[in-house]
Amino acid sequence: MPIVNRIAGMQDEITVWRRDFHEHPELLYDVHRTAGVVADKLKAFGCDEVVPGIGRTGVVGVIKGRKSGSGRVIGMRADMDALPILEDTGLPYASKTPGKMHACGHDGHSAMLLGAAKYLCETRNFDGTAVVIFQPAEEGGAGGRAMVEDGMMDRWNIQEVYGMHNQPGMAVGQFGLRPGPLMASSDRLHVTIEGKGGHAAKPHKCIDTVLVGAHIITNLQSIVSRSLDPLDSGVISMCMFHAGNAGNVIPATAELTGTARALTPHVRDQLERRFVEIAEGTAKLFGATAKAIYRRDYPVTSNHPKQTEFAAAIAGEVVGRSNVDTDLPPVMGGEDFSFMLEARPGAFIFVGNGDTANVHHPAYNFNDDVIPVGVSYWARLVETAMPA
Ligand code: NI
Repeated sequence: MPIVNRIAGMQDEITVWRRDFHEHPELLYDVHRTAGVVADKLKAFGCDEVVPGIGRTGVVGVIKGRKSGSGRVIGMRADMDALPILEDTGLPYASKTPGKMHACGHDGHSAMLLGAAKYLCETRNFDGTAVVIFQPAEEGGAGGRAMVEDGMMDRWNIQEVYGMHNQPGMAVGQFGLRPGPLMASSDRLHVTIEGKGGHAAKPHKCIDTVLVGAHIITNLQSIVSRSLDPLDSGVISMCMFHAGNAGNVIPATAELTGTARALTPHVRDQLERRFVEIAEGTAKLFGATAKAIYRRDYPVTSNHPKQTEFAAAIAGEVVGRSNVDTDLPPVMGGEDFSFMLEARPGAFIFVGNGDTANVHHPAYNFNDDVIPVGVSYWARLVETAMPA
């Protein structure tokens, strides 16, 4: 049971939607045009219910099957937001807004879920309810959490939830996933250092916050190498170091900013504890003070075993079992579908985007050849989970 015929016939139409989204990228919660297009299309398809404004600018569409005796409700989620990147693809449908770009393929994710909604509205060949979820602010704004906190899961009695993301470097026609942790928790690190400023030629009269910051960054490297079990995975990257305005002045303050990643709650706790201890303790060694803030952001994206097995079987029906990697190594990137997986059992799957530039790169583009693959996955998932 490969690509669904009817869906293969919809590819050109869905490609037009995808490229329209691509031309009109919007950031975070400010996805008003995109959400408007999504809601209009869902209504035109004949969804039984279309509700905008969930989690500020998210959209939920409800499609009832020919039968509803099973009482089952399956949620499927796409993200709608773009990135603050200056596009460098040279495409005829490149972003019309300089500095904003669909560089993570969320244009493709939204178009594919719309395609599935159209197909499901036409065919309704299932016993239960399909809920299509279009979320804002995946790229750092926790739009997934906003929709969950808005009561989406209870309001529509969603029992299981599924998500999909394209993966450059994986061939078109392949899927990959794994049970358990698939993507890392993603937390924000910030250190404010206070010392004593003064003349660069009189360091003995100062407490040099640049030196303190350099030692903090160096000492933080011992967390992953010395504090974690070597068989566990963790990342601490300090990515910004702001201090000083002149080459002959020792600055009184310095600020460090970074990110921490983990695949288990235990490692996440360890990173938090050691980060604060080392940053504040190192400052003390030099007579400075530091305030270290570890802000928990996205949790681990952890696939539920039963739903992962089901998702892998559906992917196998679409592309053949040999094209589904069910033991995909986890990645240390974050994903806010994690909030939905904390609320309900489900699975997140990667779909191959072929040999393209990587996501978040100015030359990236979603591969329209993926459309029939992704839409067929959504359609079969509903029809198989809730057979008519
Ligand atoms: Ni993304």
